[in-house]
Amino acid sequence: MKLWSGRFQKHTEGIVDDFNSSLPFDCRLFRQDIQGSQAHAAMLVKVGILTKDEGEKIQQGLEYILKGMEEGSISLHQEAEDIHMLVETLLTQRIGEAGKKLHTGRSRNDQVATDMRLYVKDTCDETAQALHALCEALLTLAQQYSGDVMPGYTHLQRAQPITLGHWFLVWFEMFLRDIKRVQNAKEAADCLPLGAGALAGTTYPLDRAFVQQQLGMQNLCRNSLDAVSDRDFVLDYLHAANLCMMHLSRLCEELIIFSTTEFGFITMDDGFATGSSMMPQKKNPDVAELIRGKTGRVYGNYVALLTVMKALPLAYDKDMQEDKEGFFDARDTLLKCLSLITPLLTTTTYNLQTLRAKALDGFTNATDLADYLVGKGVPFRDAHSVSGQLVAYCLGKQCALNDVPLTEMQKFSPAIQADVYDALSLDTCVNQRKVLGGPAPDNVRREAVLGWERLKELR
Ligand code: ARG
Repeated sequence: MKLWSGRFQKHTEGIVDDFNSSLPFDCRLFRQDIQGSQAHAAMLVKVGILTKDEGEKIQQGLEYILKGMEEGSISLHQEAEDIHMLVETLLTQRIGEAGKKLHTGRSRNDQVATDMRLYVKDTCDETAQALHALCEALLTLAQQYSGDVMPGYTHLQRAQPITLGHWFLVWFEMFLRDIKRVQNAKEAADCLPLGAGALAGTTYPLDRAFVQQQLGMQNLCRNSLDAVSDRDFVLDYLHAANLCMMHLSRLCEELIIFSTTEFGFITMDDGFATGSSMMPQKKNPDVAELIRGKTGRVYGNYVALLTVMKALPLAYDKDMQEDKEGFFDARDTLLKCLSLITPLLTTTTYNLQTLRAKALDGFTNATDLADYLVGKGVPFRDAHSVSGQLVAYCLGKQCALNDVPLTEMQKFSPAIQADVYDALSLDTCVNQRKVLGGPAPDNVRREAVLGWERLKELR
């Protein structure tokens, strides 16, 4: 018998029940649902709608159901329309008449919105925590490799020398922004809908502020129609999750390229790589590839919910039940990816000699040669041209700029002196890039120290 069957002449069709039911996926809201009901019941006692005795029975009954669901002695796979109906049915089965009074002054519309907000808040905390761990690992790596030279790229062509520590700090900046975005999503979720009823509030003298306090919510939803129809906070989380996945996919892409024999910049730990069923020599970066690949489904979940919400009439529509699976999937996917990327980074070997060698034979110091000439009074355009001609000369000789004898160099420009070799050394090149935000080892060390502070401020 359905809890709402009063006005119906016959049972719903089986395929309709099946189509309508959200229990298979909203069962994971059971903690939030029970927590919300406990706060609601306590408030009903406070304002005199329930007796103390009824309130106690409800609290004990809900406690029992919570424990049973947590331990698995109460199955979450039962015939019920959703988690709210299941909990209420079980409660009435256990405590009798008092159970039927729990839903006084409440609708599943404000109930589900509350459950989702509580769940999103928890998810934001879990995500921020995982991001914190990742940021800490990145800062540690940046400090460890602050002085190690590697080629920096534009257009995936070797461009100028940077430091490996600087490269780690890129990702730190991105994931730090992600923490802020996750915190914004939490703030958006931190608002209590209960009291909005189905759409138009309720005639009962509910104490919404009391429930707010019981549930530890920052704010109260201030319009009953908005309270039941708003899913912005889910989209806010998905937005944060999407940018984070995008950042992860870029990081993984670099790791994948860097681990090729052609680059040879890094060697992934065997524990984080996989083999081929056919080719015995293969060692594949599956973890990084999967993270890169899973970015697609998280994007999809965002677009799906955004589309569900598009042009939805006020207030609640069943379409909104579709907010859950995509959100849960995005949450699970992101948390899993974050739990893998951190150990993937910390167990990887960074091949420092290769990184340095590739910076040198890629002429990443060609700009520095031009800058050196500018220092000797040559206009930049001419200096650029001289440096370019020397690169062409080296390409023919298959050598680095630093290998060209001084007398040869001077044929390209008489302004070149013996001190050119110092200017061309990769360490000079990175040490000189000490403008704020630059890759100089001193900068990297300073930014890493500051990074720990910036991270702490986001706690
Ligand atoms: N399972 C529903 C959902 O997830 C709960 C709210 C149902 N409300 C209603 N009026 N049918 O959205």
